[in-house]
Amino acid sequence: MPNSQQSLFNFKNKDKNLRFKTLEEINNVCNSCYKCDLSKTRTNVVFGDGVFSSKIMLIGEGPGQNEDETGKPFVGKAGKFLDKILESQNISREKNIYICNIVKCRPPKNRIPTNEEMTACKVYLDAQIQLMRPKIIILCGSTAVKAMLGIKSGITKIRGQWIEGPFGAKMMPLLHPSYLLRNQSKAVDSPQWLTLQDIKEIKKVLVS
Ligand code: URA
Repeated sequence: MPNSQQSLFNFKNKDKNLRFKTLEEINNVCNSCYKCDLSKTRTNVVFGDGVFSSKIMLIGEGPGQNEDETGKPFVGKAGKFLDKILESQNISREKNIYICNIVKCRPPKNRIPTNEEMTACKVYLDAQIQLMRPKIIILCGSTAVKAMLGIKSGITKIRGQWIEGPFGAKMMPLLHPSYLLRNQSKAVDSPQWLTLQDIKEIKKVLVS
């Protein structure tokens, strides 16, 4: 794992954080969390959505306005585009993927979450991963890459690569759908074209 010593996540103490036995338990604690200031401005905690018993987890950055209002991750414009990309390979939150974020509450004005906020929230993602044990973890966007791998920049260099993840999971960085919406070209080697190749590779490993 590149530069893993700076990752916010440390899965070496495998069972230390596993005081949660069910997803519902994690959700309940998370719903009444006031560990950081994001709790003061949130409307809803955005815990996760999709099929928890599936083999793929997608981790994004944090909720935006639509997500804060509905309590569901990736339901705004970027989320709809993400759904479209995933559905091109027959992957959907109704059938076979679980979607969550690094932070569960909306950062004001959609700013990037601070290290303190990500650290405060990490116990919930830790527990989600430990309980789900996904075969594949998609790191969606540079904040998810930074939090999980400790890499600050250069998602364009590492997107599409398989990286060893916790509990034997295979992790792949993927360009964030907000970035893809700002780059509409579908030409060969464009961000959207590259992302389609990445999702095809993920599908190949999923069914293998
Ligand atoms: N962007 C994210 O990273 N996560 C969401 O839930 C929505 C938009």
